Amino acid sequence: MVIETLDEVAYSITEPLPPVFSSEGVMVYGIGIVVYFILVSHGIAWYRARQYDESSLDELLDSETVDAAAVERTLMDDIAARQQDVLAPSAIEWETRSARVGEQWTTTLYIAEYPDAPKDGYLSGLFELTDVEFDVTARIVPKNQRRARDELQRIADDLRADADLENSVRGSYLHERADAAVSTYKAVENGQRVFEQELVVTVRAETRDELREAVKNVRGTLRETPARLEPKTAICTQDKAIRSAAPIGGSGLEKTAIALGGAVGALLTSPHNATILEEDGVEFGIHRSINSPVVIDPFAREDGYAKFTVGDPGSGKSFSSKQQFIRTLARDPDRIGIVLEPLNNWNGVVEALGGRRITVGGTLGLNPLEIKPTPAHVLEQRGTDASLLKERRNRVLSFFTNYFAHRGVELGSRRTTLERAIDEAYERQGITDDIETHSRASPTVRDVLDILEEISDSPDEYVVRVESEREQLREDAVWLLGQLRPFTEDGQFANLGRESEFDIRDEKVLYLDLVQQGGSIGGQTSLLMELLISLVYERAKETEKEVVFVIDEARYLMKDSATLEYLETIFRHHRHHDLSIQLITQTVDEFRTQDISKMILDQCAIKQFHKLDGMDQEIAEMFGLNFAQMSYVQNAVPGGEERGYSEALLGIDGEWRGIEVHALEDEKAVLENEQSVN
Ligand SMILES: Nc1ncnc2c1ncn2[C@@H]1O[C@H](COP(=O)(O)OP(=O)(O)OP(=O)(O)O)[C@@H](O)[C@H]1O
Ligand SMILES: [Mg+2]
Repeated sequence: MVIETLDEVAYSITEPLPPVFSSEGVMVYGIGIVVYFILVSHGIAWYRARQYDESSLDELLDSETVDAAAVERTLMDDIAARQQDVLAPSAIEWETRSARVGEQWTTTLYIAEYPDAPKDGYLSGLFELTDVEFDVTARIVPKNQRRARDELQRIADDLRADADLENSVRGSYLHERADAAVSTYKAVENGQRVFEQELVVTVRAETRDELREAVKNVRGTLRETPARLEPKTAICTQDKAIRSAAPIGGSGLEKTAIALGGAVGALLTSPHNATILEEDGVEFGIHRSINSPVVIDPFAREDGYAKFTVGDPGSGKSFSSKQQFIRTLARDPDRIGIVLEPLNNWNGVVEALGGRRITVGGTLGLNPLEIKPTPAHVLEQRGTDASLLKERRNRVLSFFTNYFAHRGVELGSRRTTLERAIDEAYERQGITDDIETHSRASPTVRDVLDILEEISDSPDEYVVRVESEREQLREDAVWLLGQLRPFTEDGQFANLGRESEFDIRDEKVLYLDLVQQGGSIGGQTSLLMELLISLVYERAKETEKEVVFVIDEARYLMKDSATLEYLETIFRHHRHHDLSIQLITQTVDEFRTQDISKMILDQCAIKQFHKLDGMDQEIAEMFGLNFAQMSYVQNAVPGGEERGYSEALLGIDGEWRGIEVHALEDEKAVLENEQSVN
């Protein structure tokens, strides 16, 4: 419309002019051309004068501004030089397949071929590599839709025509290509956008050898599913390739491919696939290579809610666990949080959450024999194959096994007599395999002592077959009574001889404080910790709420324990009771030696490794870590105020991701406060 109008105006102006090749015409147009040249040359002269007439500019401005400008210019030059220093390498050496850029070696790859139908998030494998340093640049430029469609139509038509002409084998190949071109054309007709896409990956390493390994690793990942790309090293064009990889430069390589909107979408979801974003989750950290948050719901795991955290002293385990604890409880106000930690390092957290402290080891009654009813819905889930009473009784025996080991005495064959007494104690309370009976009052250790006393007085009732048993029973009972004396009213463990006196049902946050004797952690710490774990488990059975139970410094639990059998049962069934049990410890040594420990580890759907010097091939194998993940753990950044973050390898349902743990300003004050303000 606008063009038409302009044409009309031009016509009306030129209409009265004479034709060009007439005599007046030559004169009119000649003068016109001369005038035109004069005007143009004046124009150029004016433009040049404008460019160089700085002196007149100086005259217009006052001298202060002019002087200040000179200073500003040197300052700006200085800043520019400094930015250059920071951003650009001091020197670059180009080689055929690599380049030495500043202190690092790099190789830049480009993608030569893409799969026809790329999978969503096809680059996620690349972002999951934990020990390779790389940059990925994707350059996506929308093409003119109409032109792209016409071009596709032409290609499809040509291919079809060629295919129809060929009767040979090549004909069927051309037919296939023509069909593919037609379907692409149709997709575009139906509204799919067309893009030009270039994908460049720069791999970086400190040495040439490391670079070779890293490139091998990256190429392998790009070739494998889900990527299925064909990466090529930019041979003799590393300079252009690295420029293409720079986010602000243009493409220097010209290795573009045509991609439809769907393929671009598939590419763009890659960083999301690498991370995990669960709806009701909390942020565990930031994915180390894509900077996306890693959001996990500890109660959304199919394989259970248990967690295992390991790392060197000071590597940031407690810091990260406290953060997750606070966040998990904040996420759902109905959740109960329980902390068992013998060093009193969780004071700040428990106080900030308004938690209650229960001092254990003093006078608070804790009953090792306590049994609580299992709700019906839980029974349905876990099936009734195992006897619940038997399971509880085994945990009682595990407690006594550790008790005797702690005292340095051998229980040996007396175990049978102790078992008899314990069974009898449950029986007398009317507690049997029938779960209906489990809500009755539990027997106590003192009841067991009474029964042992009866056995020693009149063992006849307990004799099964032969006469000689009688003497044996009497001897065992007397021995056991002597050994279990600390559980009597005035014994060291008097409080463990009575009924339990704590409840978690109405608590929001509970700190099980193991009072330290004389500033050191006594030998009975592990015993008390074991007992508390069993009791918390019994109570977690009763409540409908989700319970987060953190056991920090779990090495005190493992160290003196003769058996971890009780933990096995708890870990095996925790999920039926909505119990997220979390063990935090400094080494995996204890877990290497015992078979039961391996089973416990298998039950942990979430595993978190902080820096661990002792990480070796054997441990890596035990946890299913590959070489890259193993070295990530060996070299992870430990926690520390000056760094302001820590690194960890996080395993969720068997998949590993490197994360950085950062705290929010408000959280920091709480997380760093280990001391009680009271
Ligand atoms: N992500 C982090 N950001 C800032 N500071 C941190 C971070 N992680 C840890 N720290 C700091 O580093 C120190 C050690 O951390 P932390 O207590 O968590 O170590 P740990 O692994 O629990 O050690 P230990 O095995 O001795 O208990 C603490 O002072 C803590 O405040
Ligand atoms: Mg700690």
